[in-house]
Amino acid sequence: MTDHILIERRGAVQIIRMNRPDKKNALTRAMYAKMSAALSEGDADPAVRAHVFLGVPGAFSSGNDLADFLVIATGGEGGNEVWDFLMALAKAEKPMVSGVDGIAVGIGTTLNLHCDLTFATPRTLFRTPFVDLGLVPEAGSSLLAQQILGRQGAFALLGLGEGFSAERAKAAGLIYDVVAEDALEGAVLAAAAEIAAKPPQALKIARDLMREPREELVARIKVESEYFGERLKSDEARAALTAFMARKKG
Ligand code: COA
Repeated sequence: MTDHILIERRGAVQIIRMNRPDKKNALTRAMYAKMSAALSEGDADPAVRAHVFLGVPGAFSSGNDLADFLVIATGGEGGNEVWDFLMALAKAEKPMVSGVDGIAVGIGTTLNLHCDLTFATPRTLFRTPFVDLGLVPEAGSSLLAQQILGRQGAFALLGLGEGFSAERAKAAGLIYDVVAEDALEGAVLAAAAEIAAKPPQALKIARDLMREPREELVARIKVESEYFGERLKSDEARAALTAFMARKKG
């Protein structure tokens, strides 16, 4: 089986690459588990000083695998992999840099709210259609998006499910910079290398200060997850997920 998450070290930088191009990097439980393990192993290893998230050309991630959601919506078991990943993101000890090209839906958007720097390409569209799927915001996005975008920007993203182009996302403070597709990986790795060269203890304290209070974020993720789990079993979600899985391509 193809490895859908590729882990690589470049010097002091750990690269976590989502690699399921045929499904636009929809995230399965196994993919979440591998990313969580990479974050905690990288955090525990003094040789790693920064984490990088990358996708494939044209797709950072299309979000949670909707087939996995449908399993839960129809009475099946969901597992703890998503929860573990959200905790790993919220509690990550080392800086995280992401490089987003193209599709960035659901967790493909909200993952970046946890990153310290996000680079995106001009063809990127950030989108969180949670409400349209009968669901609610996750990954702490109901808190983080409001802090970054203000109440109305957060509502546009999370309530209306409006797409945010890379330009709009940068102007709104959602991402750090917009770079051409062929420059993305270089820009991300250069930023990660710059971070990795900083005095690690000073950087850690500075980063921790900017992330206080983490308990508030963890508490919000917990509340969101409870609602999310309930909503997954709702008629609204079941109908939307079934419609996606049954759709015919034109
Ligand atoms: N879960 C499972 N499969 C997904 C998926 C997801 N989140 N996103 C895309 N795929 C699959 C498609 O079903 C398709 O599979 P197939 O080739 O076996 O039919 C394949 O990935 C390619 O997707 P496709 O829709 O053909 O590509 P596109 O470029 O036209 O559109 C998206 C890409 C992401 C806009 C569209 O697939 C989409 O809206 N996906 C759902 C996104 C979503 O709602 N995510 C959850 C947010 S909480």
